[in-house]
Amino acid sequence: MTEYATLTFEGKTLELPIVTGTEGEKAIDIRMLRQKTGYITFDPGYGNTGCCKSAITFMNGEKGILRYRGIPIEELAENSTFVETSYLLINGRLPTRKELTRTSVMLNDFSLVHEDMQNFYQNFPRASHPMGILSAMVNALRSFYPELVETDEQTEMIFLRLLSKVRTMAAMSYKISRGHKVIYPRPDYTYCANFLHMMFDTPVKPYVIDQDLVRALNVFWILHADHEQNCSTSAVKTVGSARANIYATLSAGIAALWGPLHGGANQAVVEMLAKIWKEGLSIEEVISRAKDKTDPFRLMGFGHRVYKTYDPRAKIMKKICDRVLPKLNINDPLLDIAKKLEEVALNDAYFIDYNLYPNVDFYSGILLRAMGIPTNMFTVMFAIGRLPGWLAQWKENLDDPEQKLCRPRQIYTGSNQKPYIPIDDRE
Ligand code: CMC
Repeated sequence: MTEYATLTFEGKTLELPIVTGTEGEKAIDIRMLRQKTGYITFDPGYGNTGCCKSAITFMNGEKGILRYRGIPIEELAENSTFVETSYLLINGRLPTRKELTRTSVMLNDFSLVHEDMQNFYQNFPRASHPMGILSAMVNALRSFYPELVETDEQTEMIFLRLLSKVRTMAAMSYKISRGHKVIYPRPDYTYCANFLHMMFDTPVKPYVIDQDLVRALNVFWILHADHEQNCSTSAVKTVGSARANIYATLSAGIAALWGPLHGGANQAVVEMLAKIWKEGLSIEEVISRAKDKTDPFRLMGFGHRVYKTYDPRAKIMKKICDRVLPKLNINDPLLDIAKKLEEVALNDAYFIDYNLYPNVDFYSGILLRAMGIPTNMFTVMFAIGRLPGWLAQWKENLDDPEQKLCRPRQIYTGSNQKPYIPIDDRE
């Protein structure tokens, strides 16, 4: 039976239906609000606005819960691979062995990039940021693969093509930015091993695949694979709602992810830690700057719109750093600084009062550094990981008959009507 919330305004009342999710989350359905009252809701940043019903990812920010299709992130990080998790997100269930093998074979089949695309790469200025290049190149894929996403078979093919090629394109952009020969994928390697191979193999020094690093990369990408209605996913859904093509739509998601308040935070964290180390800043000094409201500086890698406790992804990421760095014989001073910073912040009244805890980006840069990934590629690594989430959310949105063109309203605060003044009569 539908429950209702009652809105009272200007001496009138309006019954608004309550929508309840499978985990008991509640929303007031205001779709008829403007039509029935002339009012709209006001919610900058959409912190209280549910834009869809979704069966993909569940988050509880108070309890630090994250589940993909019902499965806890901790179990996926322990047992799954990135390819299997991508299948889960996109198809709604774990694959059978046969389905997983077929997916892996198709990912390998699609792993090459049209040779003509190299011309684009070669012409970006050397100092271009890899996120700008990736966003432009994903948009350009439309010109190389103009097929439409109409049937289920086409959707599967285009999704797998994107998952495979975006990874190849990311490695390719790194090689080209260094002026090195592009390394092609190998059909006998798994998805993650192939990425490391394309990034680090050279004609003079073959790269030896380390299975611990392959596992760490799988976990890194699993942790980033989806995060419900975050900024870049909302960008993907907004652009997708205009029925823009899938490549342009993803390119918008990549652009949103680039921002330092979102995916760009992993680069910003390592830059912050490196600055503390190089300039010998004290942890107390850094914390005090982060608290100073007259200073725009924020403690990067801390705080989250949804999590008001420790981000479950950050816990897993910290554990992997503790496991992988000693194994690689890496003694990274930035890891020590990060741990000290975390300890001081978690005991500081400001961070406690504002519920500011480490998020996924706090430790992820340290893991990527240990793998040999350059700092300006960190957000590209996030983008490869987020791709299955964007694809799953984009498809769910298009398949949902309740969804419409995204088009928020506003409260206008500008001038009231006034006449046009000819230029010679202006003061
Ligand atoms: N350091 C210091 N103060 C902070 C921080 C921080 N990292 N984060 C939030 N605050 C303060 C902020 O100054 C504000 O104070 P006041 O209300 O007095 O003005 C209050 O906390 C609320 O901040 P907000 O920006 O209104 O909250 P939000 O929910 O919009 O912000 C956030 C979420 C992630 C943008 C923010 O916490 C932040 O800027 N963090 C640093 C960047 C970062 O690590 N981003 C990665 C997010 S996780 C990856 C992802 O999923 O995108």
